[in-house]
Amino acid sequence: NPGELRFDGRVALVTGAGNGIGRIYALLLAKLGASVVVNDLGGSHTGVGGAHAAADKVVDEIRAAGGKAVANYDSVEDGDKLVDTAIKAFGRIDIVVNNAGILRDKSFARMTDADWDLVHRVHVRGTYKVTKAAWPHMLKQKYGRIINTASAVGLYGNFGQANYSAAKAAMVAFSNTLALEGRKSNIIANTIAPNAGTRMTATVMPPEMVEALKPDYVAPLVAFLGHESCKETGSIFEVGSGWIAKVRWQRTGGVGFPINRPLLPEHIASRWAEITNFNDGRATHPISTQDSFAAVQANFDNKDTGAGAAAGGAKKGGVN
Ligand code: NAI
Repeated sequence: NPGELRFDGRVALVTGAGNGIGRIYALLLAKLGASVVVNDLGGSHTGVGGAHAAADKVVDEIRAAGGKAVANYDSVEDGDKLVDTAIKAFGRIDIVVNNAGILRDKSFARMTDADWDLVHRVHVRGTYKVTKAAWPHMLKQKYGRIINTASAVGLYGNFGQANYSAAKAAMVAFSNTLALEGRKSNIIANTIAPNAGTRMTATVMPPEMVEALKPDYVAPLVAFLGHESCKETGSIFEVGSGWIAKVRWQRTGGVGFPINRPLLPEHIASRWAEITNFNDGRATHPISTQDSFAAVQANFDNKDTGAGAAAGGAKKGGVN
Protein backbone atom coordinates (compact mmCIF):
# COMPACT_ATOMS: atom_id res chain seq x y z
CA ASN A 1 0.00 0.00 0.00
CA PRO A 2 1.91 3.06 -1.25
CA GLY A 3 0.04 5.66 0.83
CA GLU A 4 0.21 3.70 4.06
CA LEU A 5 0.06 5.90 7.16
CA ARG A 6 2.91 4.65 9.33
CA PHE A 7 3.67 5.33 13.00
CA ASP A 8 7.31 4.25 13.19
CA GLY A 9 9.09 6.03 16.03
CA ARG A 10 5.77 7.18 17.53
CA VAL A 11 4.56 6.14 20.97
CA ALA A 12 0.85 5.64 21.58
CA LEU A 13 -1.00 5.16 24.85
CA VAL A 14 -4.38 3.49 24.56
CA THR A 15 -6.44 3.37 27.73
CA GLY A 16 -8.81 0.47 28.32
CA ALA A 17 -7.02 -1.45 25.56
CA GLY A 18 -7.51 -4.89 27.11
CA ASN A 19 -10.95 -5.39 25.54
CA GLY A 20 -13.36 -4.03 22.99
CA ILE A 21 -12.52 -1.10 20.75
CA GLY A 22 -9.36 -0.15 22.64
CA ARG A 23 -7.82 -3.55 21.96
CA ILE A 24 -8.30 -3.05 18.21
CA TYR A 25 -6.77 0.45 18.39
CA ALA A 26 -3.70 -0.99 20.10
CA LEU A 27 -3.35 -3.82 17.58
CA LEU A 28 -3.74 -1.49 14.60
CA LEU A 29 -1.34 1.21 15.85
CA ALA A 30 1.26 -1.45 16.68
CA LYS A 31 0.82 -3.06 13.26
CA LEU A 32 1.47 0.33 11.67
CA GLY A 33 4.74 0.70 13.57
CA ALA A 34 3.85 2.54 16.77
CA SER A 35 5.17 1.48 20.17
CA VAL A 36 2.06 1.01 22.25
CA VAL A 37 1.25 1.20 25.95
CA VAL A 38 -1.67 -1.14 26.48
CA ASN A 39 -3.43 0.14 29.56
CA ASP A 40 -6.19 -1.82 31.22
CA LEU A 41 -7.37 -2.16 34.76
CA GLY A 42 -9.03 -5.43 33.79
CA GLY A 43 -12.26 -4.95 35.70
CA SER A 44 -15.84 -5.69 34.65
CA HIS A 45 -17.82 -3.40 32.34
CA THR A 46 -19.43 -1.87 35.42
CA GLY A 47 -16.04 -1.01 36.90
CA VAL A 48 -15.75 -3.85 39.40
CA GLY A 49 -12.48 -5.69 40.11
CA GLY A 50 -9.19 -5.69 38.27
CA ALA A 51 -6.76 -8.16 36.64
CA HIS A 52 -3.56 -8.08 34.63
CA ALA A 53 -4.73 -10.66 32.11
CA ALA A 54 -6.65 -8.24 29.86
CA ALA A 55 -3.70 -5.97 29.07
CA ASP A 56 -1.17 -8.83 29.06
CA LYS A 57 -3.09 -10.76 26.40
CA VAL A 58 -3.09 -7.79 24.03
CA VAL A 59 0.61 -7.12 24.63
CA ASP A 60 1.35 -10.78 23.85
CA GLU A 61 -0.72 -10.55 20.67
CA ILE A 62 1.17 -7.46 19.52
CA ARG A 63 4.57 -8.95 20.30
CA ALA A 64 3.68 -12.23 18.60
CA ALA A 65 2.95 -10.23 15.45
CA GLY A 66 6.35 -8.52 15.70
CA GLY A 67 5.11 -5.25 17.22
CA LYS A 68 6.26 -3.25 20.25
CA ALA A 69 4.05 -3.00 23.33
CA VAL A 70 4.10 -2.83 27.11
CA ALA A 71 1.28 -3.29 29.58
CA ASN A 72 0.06 -0.91 32.23
CA TYR A 73 -2.57 -1.97 34.78
CA ASP A 74 -3.33 1.26 36.60
CA SER A 75 -6.66 3.00 36.58
CA VAL A 76 -6.85 5.98 34.27
CA GLU A 77 -7.53 7.95 37.44
CA ASP A 78 -3.77 7.54 38.05
CA GLY A 79 -2.98 9.00 34.65
CA ASP A 80 0.60 9.94 35.55
CA LYS A 81 1.45 6.26 36.07
CA LEU A 82 0.24 5.43 32.56
CA VAL A 83 2.35 8.16 31.03
CA ASP A 84 5.35 7.13 33.18
CA THR A 85 5.05 3.66 31.67
CA ALA A 86 5.28 5.16 28.17
CA ILE A 87 8.27 7.35 29.06
CA LYS A 88 10.14 4.54 30.85
CA ALA A 89 9.54 1.98 28.11
CA PHE A 90 9.78 4.14 25.00
CA GLY A 91 11.12 7.58 26.01
CA ARG A 92 8.23 9.68 24.71
CA ILE A 93 4.48 9.97 24.26
CA ASP A 94 2.95 11.11 20.98
CA ILE A 95 -0.58 9.76 20.85
CA VAL A 96 -3.11 9.45 23.64
CA VAL A 97 -6.33 7.58 23.00
CA ASN A 98 -8.62 8.07 25.98
CA ASN A 99 -10.87 5.08 25.55
CA ALA A 100 -11.30 3.36 28.94
CA GLY A 101 -14.86 3.39 30.12
CA ILE A 102 -17.56 1.80 32.21
CA LEU A 103 -21.33 1.90 32.44
CA ARG A 104 -23.70 2.17 35.40
CA ASP A 105 -27.04 2.41 33.59
CA LYS A 106 -30.10 3.19 35.68
CA SER A 107 -33.13 5.41 35.33
CA PHE A 108 -32.35 8.79 36.84
CA ALA A 109 -34.89 8.19 39.61
CA ARG A 110 -32.94 5.14 40.78
CA MET A 111 -29.42 6.43 40.12
CA THR A 112 -27.24 6.71 43.24
CA ASP A 113 -24.39 9.11 43.94
CA ALA A 114 -22.03 6.14 43.55
CA ASP A 115 -23.41 5.39 40.04
CA TRP A 116 -22.88 9.01 39.07
CA ASP A 117 -19.45 9.46 40.67
CA LEU A 118 -17.88 6.22 39.46
CA VAL A 119 -18.82 6.87 35.84
CA HIS A 120 -17.57 10.45 36.05
CA ARG A 121 -14.34 9.39 37.75
CA VAL A 122 -13.42 6.95 34.99
CA HIS A 123 -14.54 8.97 31.95
CA VAL A 124 -14.05 12.58 32.98
CA ARG A 125 -11.39 12.51 35.68
CA GLY A 126 -9.59 9.59 34.01
CA THR A 127 -9.41 11.37 30.65
CA TYR A 128 -8.28 14.53 32.43
CA LYS A 129 -5.55 12.79 34.47
CA VAL A 130 -4.07 10.86 31.56
CA THR A 131 -4.07 13.89 29.28
CA LYS A 132 -2.75 16.18 32.01
CA ALA A 133 0.24 13.87 32.49
CA ALA A 134 0.95 13.63 28.75
CA TRP A 135 0.47 17.33 28.03
CA PRO A 136 3.84 18.70 29.27
CA HIS A 137 5.65 16.12 27.11
CA MET A 138 3.59 17.11 24.10
CA LEU A 139 4.18 20.83 24.70
CA LYS A 140 7.92 20.24 25.02
CA GLN A 141 8.22 18.15 21.87
CA LYS A 142 5.72 20.38 20.04
CA TYR A 143 3.76 17.36 18.95
CA GLY A 144 0.71 15.53 20.18
CA ARG A 145 -2.33 13.67 18.97
CA ILE A 146 -5.24 13.26 21.41
CA ILE A 147 -8.41 11.31 20.73
CA ASN A 148 -11.12 11.41 23.36
CA THR A 149 -14.08 9.07 23.41
CA ALA A 150 -17.59 10.44 23.70
CA SER A 151 -20.72 8.61 22.59
CA ALA A 152 -23.82 9.44 20.59
CA VAL A 153 -25.47 9.31 24.00
CA GLY A 154 -23.27 12.24 25.07
CA LEU A 155 -24.50 14.25 22.09
CA TYR A 156 -28.18 13.35 22.12
CA GLY A 157 -28.95 11.79 25.54
CA ASN A 158 -30.38 8.36 26.29
CA PHE A 159 -32.89 6.88 28.68
CA GLY A 160 -31.14 5.34 31.69
CA GLN A 161 -27.78 7.02 31.08
CA ALA A 162 -27.90 10.40 32.83
CA ASN A 163 -24.50 9.73 34.45
CA TYR A 164 -22.81 8.33 31.34
CA SER A 165 -24.29 10.82 28.87
CA ALA A 166 -23.21 13.78 31.01
CA ALA A 167 -19.69 12.34 31.32
CA LYS A 168 -19.49 11.74 27.56
CA ALA A 169 -20.69 15.25 26.75
CA ALA A 170 -17.80 16.54 28.86
CA MET A 171 -15.36 14.92 26.40
CA VAL A 172 -16.49 17.26 23.63
CA ALA A 173 -15.79 20.52 25.43
CA PHE A 174 -12.59 19.13 26.93
CA SER A 175 -11.25 18.20 23.48
CA ASN A 176 -12.30 21.53 21.98
CA THR A 177 -10.46 23.50 24.66
CA LEU A 178 -7.34 21.35 24.28
CA ALA A 179 -7.56 21.90 20.52
CA LEU A 180 -7.32 25.66 21.13
CA GLU A 181 -4.56 25.44 23.74
CA GLY A 182 -2.57 22.90 21.73
CA ARG A 183 -2.79 24.55 18.34
CA LYS A 184 0.48 26.47 18.40
CA SER A 185 2.34 23.41 19.70
CA ASN A 186 1.10 21.08 16.95
CA ILE A 187 -1.10 19.23 19.41
CA ILE A 188 -4.45 18.26 17.95
CA ALA A 189 -7.43 16.96 19.90
CA ASN A 190 -10.60 15.38 18.54
CA THR A 191 -13.61 13.52 19.89
CA ILE A 192 -15.15 10.37 18.54
CA ALA A 193 -18.58 8.91 19.22
CA PRO A 194 -18.11 5.25 18.29
CA ASN A 195 -20.61 2.47 17.75
CA ALA A 196 -19.14 -0.96 18.25
CA GLY A 197 -20.15 -4.44 19.22
CA THR A 198 -18.21 -5.12 22.43
CA ARG A 199 -18.91 -6.60 25.84
CA MET A 200 -20.26 -3.15 26.72
CA THR A 201 -22.96 -3.42 24.05
CA ALA A 202 -23.29 -7.21 23.69
CA THR A 203 -25.96 -7.23 26.40
CA VAL A 204 -28.22 -4.93 24.38
CA MET A 205 -27.36 -5.95 20.79
CA PRO A 206 -28.26 -9.07 18.79
CA PRO A 207 -25.21 -11.03 17.47
CA GLU A 208 -25.67 -9.80 13.82
CA MET A 209 -25.43 -6.25 15.02
CA VAL A 210 -22.33 -6.96 17.09
CA GLU A 211 -20.78 -8.38 13.89
CA ALA A 212 -21.87 -5.38 11.74
CA LEU A 213 -20.36 -3.06 14.33
CA LYS A 214 -16.91 -4.59 14.54
CA PRO A 215 -14.41 -2.28 16.31
CA ASP A 216 -12.22 -2.80 13.23
CA TYR A 217 -14.45 -0.23 11.52
CA VAL A 218 -13.71 2.38 14.21
CA ALA A 219 -9.97 1.90 14.65
CA PRO A 220 -8.84 3.31 11.26
CA LEU A 221 -10.42 6.69 12.09
CA VAL A 222 -8.56 6.78 15.39
CA ALA A 223 -5.33 5.93 13.57
CA PHE A 224 -5.95 8.72 11.06
CA LEU A 225 -6.69 11.25 13.83
CA GLY A 226 -3.53 10.05 15.57
CA HIS A 227 -1.31 10.42 12.53
CA GLU A 228 1.13 13.27 11.93
CA SER A 229 -0.47 14.06 8.58
CA CYS A 230 -3.79 14.83 10.26
CA LYS A 231 -4.46 18.54 10.88
CA GLU A 232 -8.10 18.20 11.91
CA THR A 233 -8.65 19.51 15.44
CA GLY A 234 -11.54 20.32 17.77
CA SER A 235 -13.91 18.12 15.78
CA ILE A 236 -16.44 15.43 16.63
CA PHE A 237 -16.93 12.30 14.56
CA GLU A 238 -19.61 9.64 14.70
CA VAL A 239 -18.21 6.33 13.53
CA GLY A 240 -19.28 2.70 13.23
CA SER A 241 -20.06 -0.10 10.74
CA GLY A 242 -17.65 1.46 8.24
CA TRP A 243 -19.52 4.80 8.22
CA ILE A 244 -17.85 8.03 9.40
CA ALA A 245 -19.31 11.54 9.69
CA LYS A 246 -18.40 14.85 11.28
CA VAL A 247 -20.80 16.53 13.69
CA ARG A 248 -21.10 20.29 14.31
CA TRP A 249 -23.37 22.73 16.10
CA GLN A 250 -26.15 24.52 14.31
CA ARG A 251 -27.79 27.63 15.71
CA THR A 252 -30.90 29.41 14.49
CA GLY A 253 -30.58 32.98 13.27
CA GLY A 254 -32.15 34.00 16.55
CA VAL A 255 -34.24 37.01 17.50
CA GLY A 256 -32.67 40.15 18.93
CA PHE A 257 -35.10 42.07 21.09
CA PRO A 258 -34.71 45.83 21.54
CA ILE A 259 -32.74 46.71 24.64
CA ASN A 260 -34.59 49.95 25.32
CA ARG A 261 -37.80 48.09 26.15
CA PRO A 262 -38.41 45.69 29.00
CA LEU A 263 -38.08 42.14 27.71
CA LEU A 264 -41.02 40.12 29.00
CA PRO A 265 -41.67 36.39 28.83
CA GLU A 266 -44.66 37.02 26.57
CA HIS A 267 -42.42 38.76 24.02
CA ILE A 268 -40.40 35.58 23.85
CA ALA A 269 -43.55 33.46 23.56
CA SER A 270 -44.76 35.57 20.64
CA ARG A 271 -41.50 35.07 18.71
CA TRP A 272 -40.89 31.47 19.71
CA ALA A 273 -41.45 30.11 16.19
CA GLU A 274 -38.67 32.39 14.89
CA ILE A 275 -36.29 31.72 17.80
CA THR A 276 -36.49 28.01 17.07
CA ASN A 277 -36.61 28.13 13.25
CA PHE A 278 -33.68 26.44 11.51
CA ASN A 279 -35.29 26.73 8.08
CA ASP A 280 -35.53 30.47 7.43
CA GLY A 281 -32.12 30.65 5.77
CA ARG A 282 -30.53 32.42 8.76
CA ALA A 283 -29.19 29.41 10.68
CA THR A 284 -25.41 29.35 11.20
CA HIS A 285 -22.77 26.92 12.44
CA PRO A 286 -20.73 28.69 15.14
CA ILE A 287 -17.29 27.15 15.54
CA SER A 288 -15.92 29.12 18.47
CA THR A 289 -17.00 30.93 21.62
CA GLN A 290 -16.10 34.22 19.89
CA ASP A 291 -18.26 33.24 16.96
CA SER A 292 -21.05 32.41 19.35
CA PHE A 293 -20.73 35.72 21.19
CA ALA A 294 -20.77 37.87 18.04
CA ALA A 295 -24.56 37.61 17.74
CA VAL A 296 -25.02 38.47 21.41
CA GLN A 297 -22.75 41.49 21.01
CA ALA A 298 -24.53 42.61 17.84
CA ASN A 299 -27.65 43.16 19.91
CA PHE A 300 -25.91 45.63 22.27
CA ASP A 301 -27.20 48.55 20.15
CA ASN A 302 -30.54 47.11 19.15
CA LYS A 303 -32.76 50.07 20.05
CA ASP A 304 -36.33 50.21 18.86
CA THR A 305 -37.21 53.72 17.70
CA GLY A 306 -40.04 52.79 15.36
CA ALA A 307 -43.76 53.45 15.76
CA GLY A 308 -44.36 49.90 16.87
CA ALA A 309 -41.95 50.36 19.78
CA ALA A 310 -44.72 51.23 22.20
CA ALA A 311 -46.13 47.75 21.71
CA GLY A 312 -42.84 46.33 22.95
CA GLY A 313 -42.29 44.24 19.83
CA ALA A 314 -38.89 43.31 18.45
CA LYS A 315 -37.62 44.31 15.03
CA LYS A 316 -38.68 41.79 12.43
CA GLY A 317 -35.89 39.44 11.65
CA GLY A 318 -33.91 40.35 14.74
CA VAL A 319 -30.16 40.26 14.85
CA ASN A 320 -28.16 37.47 13.35
P1 NAI B 1 -15.25 -2.43 26.90
O1 NAI B 1 -15.92 -2.61 28.22
O2 NAI B 1 -15.21 -3.59 25.95
O3 NAI B 1 -13.76 -1.94 27.10
C1 NAI B 1 -13.46 -0.89 27.99
C2 NAI B 1 -12.15 -1.22 28.66
O4 NAI B 1 -11.83 -0.16 29.59
C3 NAI B 1 -12.20 -2.52 29.48
O5 NAI B 1 -11.14 -3.37 29.06
C4 NAI B 1 -12.01 -2.06 30.92
O6 NAI B 1 -11.28 -2.99 31.71
C5 NAI B 1 -11.25 -0.77 30.73
N1 NAI B 1 -11.39 0.11 31.88
C6 NAI B 1 -12.52 0.42 32.56
N2 NAI B 1 -12.26 1.24 33.57
C7 NAI B 1 -10.93 1.49 33.53
C8 NAI B 1 -10.03 2.28 34.32
N3 NAI B 1 -10.49 2.98 35.37
N4 NAI B 1 -8.74 2.33 33.99
C9 NAI B 1 -8.26 1.60 32.94
N5 NAI B 1 -9.05 0.82 32.17
C10 NAI B 1 -10.36 0.77 32.48
O7 NAI B 1 -15.96 -1.17 26.20
P2 NAI B 1 -15.92 -0.63 24.68
O8 NAI B 1 -17.26 -0.85 24.11
O9 NAI B 1 -14.73 -1.10 23.98
O10 NAI B 1 -15.81 0.95 24.94
C11 NAI B 1 -14.64 1.70 24.75
C12 NAI B 1 -15.00 3.17 24.86
O11 NAI B 1 -15.94 3.54 23.85
C13 NAI B 1 -15.62 3.55 26.19
O12 NAI B 1 -15.19 4.83 26.57
C14 NAI B 1 -17.10 3.59 25.86
O13 NAI B 1 -17.80 4.39 26.75
C15 NAI B 1 -17.06 4.14 24.45
N6 NAI B 1 -18.23 3.87 23.67
C16 NAI B 1 -18.49 2.60 23.23
C17 NAI B 1 -19.61 2.38 22.46
C18 NAI B 1 -19.89 1.06 21.88
O14 NAI B 1 -20.80 0.98 21.02
N7 NAI B 1 -19.17 0.02 22.25
C19 NAI B 1 -20.59 3.44 22.17
C20 NAI B 1 -20.18 4.73 22.61
C21 NAI B 1 -19.05 4.91 23.36
